[in-house]
Amino acid sequence: MIIKRVLSGIQPTSDSFHLGNYLGAVKQWVALQDAHDAFYCIVDLHALTIETEPSLLRKRTLASAAQLLALGISPDKSTLFVQSQVSQHNQLGWLMECMAGFGEANRMVQFKDKSSKTGADSARVGLFTYPMLQAADILLYQADLVPVGEDQRQHIELTRDLAGRFNARYGQTFTIPQGYILKAAAKINDLQEPTSKMSKSSGSAAGVIEIMDAPEVNAKKIKGSITDTGSQVRFDEKEKPGISNLLTIHSALSGSTISALESEFAGKGYGDFKAAVADLVVEYLRPIRNKTLELLSDEGHLIEILHQGAAKARTVAATTLETAYKRLGTVA
Ligand code: TYM
Repeated sequence: MIIKRVLSGIQPTSDSFHLGNYLGAVKQWVALQDAHDAFYCIVDLHALTIETEPSLLRKRTLASAAQLLALGISPDKSTLFVQSQVSQHNQLGWLMECMAGFGEANRMVQFKDKSSKTGADSARVGLFTYPMLQAADILLYQADLVPVGEDQRQHIELTRDLAGRFNARYGQTFTIPQGYILKAAAKINDLQEPTSKMSKSSGSAAGVIEIMDAPEVNAKKIKGSITDTGSQVRFDEKEKPGISNLLTIHSALSGSTISALESEFAGKGYGDFKAAVADLVVEYLRPIRNKTLELLSDEGHLIEILHQGAAKARTVAATTLETAYKRLGTVA
């Protein structure tokens, strides 16, 4: 049997991952590592596309590693590493920039969304070229599957286009990857603004469940989440976006289907349902937060795991980069 390769990445841009990161992506990373050859990357170079305090970048990179381990990534099953420790990412990133058209890059909605906050003129060039570095992250490992949330779909499409173009022009070099996007949890929404995705850059902290927040803080956020019209606990994204989002969260964490939850809470009000979701989330996250804090108390151990991961990643990445250079006609 051929074991498929998986690659994904996450930015170390805050002290804590949020529930959207976990349910949309990392939960699938954990599930896929058993039967796949998995590479998971903390993409610190991507984090530099916005102003970053050096001490914070370091702290958040280590916090990301600790959270990934606490969430279930096993260094025995997966290759966990930091992007900047594998220089081939930048090198293939440049080749991808030379493959991509300006108009094509200009169509990326994440750039438009993120740059609209500061105005495109003050956005970093790196924010614009970010998707080509992401393509390199994926293609270096010849990944078959890329588990991500819905917001990354367009970047995966671009990666597929760039890989296909390179292969057609210079000969078979890259595996064409597929997005692995689980419909049920691909977009977890903000608790206060349930038509927008839960996001690290959300305007209000009250709408974002942080994995590292104290249990009582998260319980309060869920109990205080926006109240939809009506009183019935029913999945209806149009009429009841807040309750639908909480049903999605409950279902993803408990494994109960949405319809089983609708029956369970039939005749009960929003208050009872929110309290049940709060309990579920808090008890689910409590051991993960404790484990993360424990792992963070031994930085040396974390750094050792990341160094081992980078060494393994480098051997795969170097082979791909060498082939790409050769195909392009560079003199070895
Ligand atoms: P990032 O760091 O913003 O998010 C990490 C992962 O979390 C998913 N996600 C969500 N899923 C569901 N609901 C949400 N509200 C939600 N918010 C975030 C994201 O889809 C992502 O899977 N560009 C990427 C990082 C990256 C990458 C890669 C991913 C760099 N190179 C190579 C895959 C492969 C990003 O900014 O993710």
